[in-house]
Amino acid sequence: MFKVTPWEVEGKIDYEKLIKQFGVRKIDEKLEKKIEKIAGKNYMLERKIFFTHRDLDKIVNDYENRKEIYLYTGRGPSGGTHLGHLLPWFFTKYLQDGFKSKLLFQITDDEKFLFKENLSFEDIGKYTKENMLDIIALGFDPKKTRIIIDTKNIKELYPLAIKIAKKITFSTVKAVFGFNNETNIGRIFFTSMQAAPAFLLSEEKNKKIRCLIPCGIDQDPHFRIARDVAEKLDYPKPALVHCKFLPSLQGEGKMSASQKDNTIYTSDSPEEVKRKIMNAFTGGRATIKEQREKGGEPEKCPVFAYYYFFFEKDNKKLEAIRRECKSGKRICGECKAELIERINSFLKEHQKKREKAKDKVKEFLEQ
Ligand code: TYM
Repeated sequence: MFKVTPWEVEGKIDYEKLIKQFGVRKIDEKLEKKIEKIAGKNYMLERKIFFTHRDLDKIVNDYENRKEIYLYTGRGPSGGTHLGHLLPWFFTKYLQDGFKSKLLFQITDDEKFLFKENLSFEDIGKYTKENMLDIIALGFDPKKTRIIIDTKNIKELYPLAIKIAKKITFSTVKAVFGFNNETNIGRIFFTSMQAAPAFLLSEEKNKKIRCLIPCGIDQDPHFRIARDVAEKLDYPKPALVHCKFLPSLQGEGKMSASQKDNTIYTSDSPEEVKRKIMNAFTGGRATIKEQREKGGEPEKCPVFAYYYFFFEKDNKKLEAIRRECKSGKRICGECKAELIERINSFLKEHQKKREKAKDKVKEFLEQ
C-alpha cells in the first residue's frame, strides 16, 4: 500500500501503478532525444528520475516552432529545504538554460498556513525567506526568473485565481483531494492559487503561452484540475514533467520534512549529516561476513539511492558502485563514509552560495 497526494507521500511507491492511477505518460526515447538536442544530456532524464509527463512533446514542438513557452515550479515553505526539493529545481535550471525561457517560481505560503495545523504565519514567513535563498543559490537567471509569494503577490494572482475557482466544483476537489465537510474552506479554494501561475503569462501578455511545470509527481493532481480548467478559460493546457522521490534515509517513502532525522537539510552541519547517514537503513547484510559472501542489495538501499539520484552523476562510476556492492567488495561503512564526504562538500559550496544569495533576493522579487 502506498499513497501519493500533494500533502502526503507514504509507503513504498509502485511507480508503474502510479502512472496508471494518475494517467500520465512515460518519457519515451524519442522525446528524451529531442529534449537532449535542445538542452543537452541530463542524468535525471537518462536515469528516469524525471520519468513521466503530460504534453511535454507540445512544449518541444512550440520551442522548435519558435513559439514562446515558459517554466513554472514552486515550493510550499513549511520548513527548511531538503535535498529532495533540490532535484526538481536543478532540473528546472537545466531546462531554463536549455530552452532559454522565463521561469515563474511560486511560494505557496498560503497553502502551508491552511494545511499545517501547527505552523504560525510568522514561522512560514521565516521559511519563505530561508527557502528563497536555496532557490536563488541554484543559479537561476535573475533576468528570466520571477519569484511569486502568494500572500505578497496576491494582487496579480487573485483576479486569475477567482476565474479558475469559478470553473472548479466542490465535488471535483472532494474527488481529487479527498476533502470532506470538515475541511476548512481555504483548502478547498487553494488549488486555484496553485493553478494561477500556469496561466499568468498568457493573461498578462494577452496571448496563448504554454507553460511547462517540472515537479515531483505528488503535485500532479493540482495540475490535472488546472488542465481541465484551461480548456474552459481558453488558455493552453499546462504541460508537466514529473520526477520520482529521493527516498527517506529509512528506505520507504520520500525524503520528507516531517521526519527530521531521515532527511538531509541544506542547512545541516557536517556533524548532522554524518549522524544521519550513519544511522541510515541500508541494503547491507546482518554481518560483514555475510555481506562479503552474498553481497549487498543496492536496489533496496537509500544510501545507494543517494548516489543514484544526486551524488554520482557519472554512469560508469555509478555502475562500479553497484557492482562492488553486489559482489560484497563494498561494505556499508565505507560506502556511507564516502557519501558523507560528498554530501558535505556539496553542502559547503551550497551554503556559501546561499549566503551570497542574500544580496540578490530583490532582483528575483521585482520583475
Ligand atoms: P513542496 O514544497 O512540498 O516541494 C517542492 C518541490 O519538491 C518536490 N519534492 C521532491 N522531489 C523529489 N524528492 C523528494 N523527496 C521531494 N519532496 C518534495 C515536490 O514535488 C515539489 O516539486 N504545493 C507545492 C508548491 C508549488 C509547486 C508549484 C510545486 C506551488 N506551485 C508548481 C511544483 C510546481 C509544494 O508544497 O511543494
